Amino acid sequence: MSPTDRPIALRGPVLTYTGDPFRDGLARTMVHEPDAVVVVQDGHIAQFGPATEIAPSLPADVEVRDYGRNALISAGFVDTHVHFPQTPMIGSHGNQLLDWLDRYTFPTELKFADRAFTREVARTFLRENLRNGITTSCVYCTVHSHSADILFEEAEALGLRLAAGKVLMDCRAPEGLMDTVQTGYDDSQALIAKWHGRGRLLYAITPRFAGTSSPAQLSAAGALWREHPDCLMQTHIAENKAEVAWIRELFPDHRHYLDVYDHHGLCGKRAVFGHGIWLEDGELQRLHETGAAIAHCPTSNFFLGSGAFDLSRALDPKRPVRVGLGTDIGAGTSFSILATLNEAYKASQLNGQALSAEHAYYLATRGSAAAIHLDDRIGSIAVGMEADLVVLDMRSTPLIDFRMNQAESFAEQLFVQMILGDDRAVQATYVAGRLAHIRT
Ligand code: GUN
Ligand code: ZN
Repeated sequence: MSPTDRPIALRGPVLTYTGDPFRDGLARTMVHEPDAVVVVQDGHIAQFGPATEIAPSLPADVEVRDYGRNALISAGFVDTHVHFPQTPMIGSHGNQLLDWLDRYTFPTELKFADRAFTREVARTFLRENLRNGITTSCVYCTVHSHSADILFEEAEALGLRLAAGKVLMDCRAPEGLMDTVQTGYDDSQALIAKWHGRGRLLYAITPRFAGTSSPAQLSAAGALWREHPDCLMQTHIAENKAEVAWIRELFPDHRHYLDVYDHHGLCGKRAVFGHGIWLEDGELQRLHETGAAIAHCPTSNFFLGSGAFDLSRALDPKRPVRVGLGTDIGAGTSFSILATLNEAYKASQLNGQALSAEHAYYLATRGSAAAIHLDDRIGSIAVGMEADLVVLDMRSTPLIDFRMNQAESFAEQLFVQMILGDDRAVQATYVAGRLAHIRT
């Protein structure tokens, strides 16, 4: 990013958040400005406010892009749990988690021994992120070190803020997809030294889950994290009932699933646990105490028949747990965050709640940024924040256009987007103030 980038002013309706509406209520945290100007320069937001205030004083050299009143400008979406190597196997039919891993996931991940294939998939994955307004994601690579190198190279070329890590797996996986305690540790160290904190990139220490790591490898991952505490740590937990029973058999001396990770130094700030559908109260309490997060992955949870995550229980004000949203491609079925919110709404319904649209968009932006402790840099529109933005078209299909004519409130308009919308609703995506995707 050159420091002399010319400023750009985006004009249109804006939705953003100054805090957590689940905790402090919408009135105190949600900002809906029907005609706003967001000025971006040098990768950051330089000005933001009502057009009546900002527009008259804009310097003459500012290029104004007016998206009109049927747009909605938001902070870019944040995906807190996704597997880029599973892009080629989305929609693989049949069976639940453990069988699905054996039948589809591991055979697909073996193909990433090939660097050219890896690069092709990394490019496709990042292109789909941008087409869907996702500007930050927490990404699992494969066991191959080069899978992380290649993803980081491609993300760096786009200027993305992205966290990723090579998967650690030293047991109960196919030959060709396993590292060892030592190689997993050494390769992760080398990747951290090369990529963590380079530009906008962050390293995520990534033991896949307790099912494919020995206690020694979990300890090594814990040691790595102690040496590099500002890295993220990502893994899976309590996604599927058979998985939970299996982990109990493998680790009979631990109180519960989370204790397996906690015991090895893998629970704390910047830990992101995928799924967490079947966590016990004691596990939620521990996540709360340590500042760790759950990635809620509703399209995946329904696709694999894993269950309906109880968001309200996780956010219980007595011991709220940080929760982000995840697509979990390729068990997840869509890169669209709108489609993911649609399924999050249905998961909440199955738990006797009805997630509001205003809370849902928080979850997709600032809430997910807060889950990974990055809400001081991304996830909202405010002066000084990194200029990652998505511009939605609120009338992206004939049906949505028709339905919007009936909508009587902004809340209703927002809800229509997350129930009927998809990638067609994303008309532009900005990464660090630069146009990175424009809908054709
Ligand atoms: N648990 C361990 N690995 C995986 C994975 O790749 N996808 C999902 N959904 N769950 C997992
Ligand atoms: Zn996953």
